[in-house]
Amino acid sequence: MNPKIKVKNSSWIKFRKFSEKKGDLFVGELNRDLPFQIKRVFFIENFNNLKRGQHVHKKNEEIIFAARGSFVLTLDDGQIRQKIKINNPRFGVYLGKNLWREMSGFSKDCLIVSIASRKYEAGDYVHSYEDFIRAIKKK
Ligand code: TYD
Repeated sequence: MNPKIKVKNSSWIKFRKFSEKKGDLFVGELNRDLPFQIKRVFFIENFNNLKRGQHVHKKNEEIIFAARGSFVLTLDDGQIRQKIKINNPRFGVYLGKNLWREMSGFSKDCLIVSIASRKYEAGDYVHSYEDFIRAIKKK
């Protein structure tokens, strides 16, 4: 069972799985399974035991999942910090705005796929955890 997501602005996304003799197919379709229109997709592999992520998006929303292998996703909404093991291609995590995320603990075969609501904008990132917390306190 997937653990309950306790941080704000995040939830599980369930892809539909079609298992047949010829193999397994996973699908996520706008409105039915996915909460936003996709503008960008990126994959990450060949990890080096170095943490990835470590930022907040001001506007961009994402869905992140392990298409293969596993990793640990750390989420922090400024009040609650939660670590979630991601190890099933059927289950992604929705990452809303203003949510600190880190990825670590990658399996050798890990392939992370991320789908995003906006094109790449360097100015949409907050790279400092302290700045993120400061911005939340001002609200
Ligand atoms: P980075 O944001 O550091 O990855 P992560 O958050 O997973 O640790 O991105 C690595 C590099 O890729 C960085 O130079 C920016 C570039 N990049 C793009 O050009 N477009 C994109 O959509 C993304 C996600 C990254």
